[in-house]
Amino acid sequence: MSGPAWNRINEPFSQLISAEEIANRTAELGKQITADYAQFTGNADVVVLGVLKGSILFMSDLVKHIALPVYLDFIAISSYGDATTSSGVVQITQDLTRSIEGKHIIVVEDIVDTGHTVDYLLKNLATRMPASIKLCSLLHKPERAEREVKIDYLGFTIPNKFVVGYGLDIAQQYRNLPFIGFVPNA
Ligand code: IMP
Repeated sequence: MSGPAWNRINEPFSQLISAEEIANRTAELGKQITADYAQFTGNADVVVLGVLKGSILFMSDLVKHIALPVYLDFIAISSYGDATTSSGVVQITQDLTRSIEGKHIIVVEDIVDTGHTVDYLLKNLATRMPASIKLCSLLHKPERAEREVKIDYLGFTIPNKFVVGYGLDIAQQYRNLPFIGFVPNA
């Protein structure tokens, strides 16, 4: 029987952002979003749109702190490139389940790195005539920016390191770490 490929006792990562820091910042972002969208009290006026798979842990914690009626949806995209760098060629592999026309959209991302993925996604979503689109990203690596992206709600700015955990992966692994760690030499 083959066991798990890794376990937390032997995990090779250095912690960059603790679970507690993530929880505190996520609660603050949720409060800020609640205040900013307080006038939208209709059902499904506000759509919290998670970008799969990296945003799922962040999104599930964030929405608990948004004290408004929101509709949740997901979009899956794959970005071509090697394990640690996106090439800017992006494909939607699973689309939204409902129209977003006339809705207020909060896109939830795990990380804005070069900015190619989110730039493509925001442009694509804009063609669907939502009433507004804002971006909420857990992480931002400004040193790697190749596209200018406005992040309306940002968790943390991080240095130019490849990070994993709390939704972020390397080759689909380590998404379930409860903290953000960095991979030495990646
Ligand atoms: P971008 O197009 O370069 O901004 O990259 C965006 C996507 O690449 C993110 O949504 C992540 O899926 C992935 N990515 C970028 N940097 C990291 C990282 O440090 N760790 C894990 N995934 C990353």
